Amino acid sequence: MESALQMDDPESRVGQPSTLALETAALGEEPSKLLSGVVALSTCPGTTPGTPQSKNQLKKQRKMAEYAELRKLRREKERERNKQKRREARAQGLPIRTGPSRKELKRRQAITGADGTPALKVAIDLDYDELMQERDIAKCVKQCLRIYTINRRSSHPGELHFSGIRRNGNIHKWFMKNDGWENWNVKYHFDKTHRDLFDREHMVYLTCESELVLDKLQPGCTYIIGGLVDHNHFKGLCHQRATEAGLRTARLPLSEHVDMKTRSVLSTYHVFELLTKVAAGQDWTTAILETIPVRKGAKAKDRAEDAESEPKQLEDEPESRDPDIDSQPSESISAESEPPSGLDS
Ligand SMILES: C[S@@+](CC[C@H](N)C(=O)[O-])C[C@H]1O[C@@H](n2cnc3c(N)ncnc32)[C@H](O)[C@@H]1O
Repeated sequence: MESALQMDDPESRVGQPSTLALETAALGEEPSKLLSGVVALSTCPGTTPGTPQSKNQLKKQRKMAEYAELRKLRREKERERNKQKRREARAQGLPIRTGPSRKELKRRQAITGADGTPALKVAIDLDYDELMQERDIAKCVKQCLRIYTINRRSSHPGELHFSGIRRNGNIHKWFMKNDGWENWNVKYHFDKTHRDLFDREHMVYLTCESELVLDKLQPGCTYIIGGLVDHNHFKGLCHQRATEAGLRTARLPLSEHVDMKTRSVLSTYHVFELLTKVAAGQDWTTAILETIPVRKGAKAKDRAEDAESEPKQLEDEPESRDPDIDSQPSESISAESEPPSGLDS
């Protein structure tokens, strides 16, 4: 018979519910009184002994638990600091709130156009789970959190979807590390991509390789942004996937409005932020200059130069076009109405 000590080795139980604890709770007995029962149970026919975990796995789990604990402590400290600030402000008779109230944020979430459609509809395509290393998955989820915050704080919040999340995949697991993530005002879609969710005619995948330029946001159209942090390792992948699926694509009108020193690939949350600002009524030039990082060295474009280089005509669009977009006077794809560290592209 296996010894009770071997069975109860804490290292072999990390991350799993304790058999002993469960059985003890169920029977309302002291663990010591039940040891023999546990051994007998685990040797019952039909029970499979748990796979022992490697030292590396155990180390990783320990580190993750320490990190979660540290985050909790940090959050508590931050809350305490904020409380202290509010106390001091109150004592000095200063106004306490700096941003919009929760009530105001909730009210904004309900803003829609005259016909009931939101000013902006965006889906972050998270169907790239297997292409990212763990640290990039972490950055990707951090960007999603940032996107949620940008949307929540916008004067014109859009309808936000996180699609293509693999259930129990890496991205799902990282989401679960954020307290209350399920309650964010976001539509989560598990094991369903944008292709399963939206009408092809009313969807545009944003990719910097597209030949078509987005110059005006269309209400009723869903803009898909790739949720991929790849340091440009998979150059053109989002564009390739979108065109293979027969979807329309468009690039942001960056070169039409600004001169930039570096490549025009933006990170997922910068693209979202830009769309949000444009949807809220800002012009492209101001929105671009306010959004993209200083290191990109963007400068407002000289309008005289602009007239010489016209964007690609609509005639070059694929067959399945959105009639609303086609009817726009502009000759580019349109859509009406629309940094913190560790969020690389
Ligand atoms: C960091 S980029 C991903 C880069 C990736 N190598 C790819 O194949 O696109 C994240 C997403 O932001 C969007 N994006 C970035 N720059 C863009 C631009 N200039 N125009 C349109 N979309 C852009 C795209 O949807 C892209 O999938």
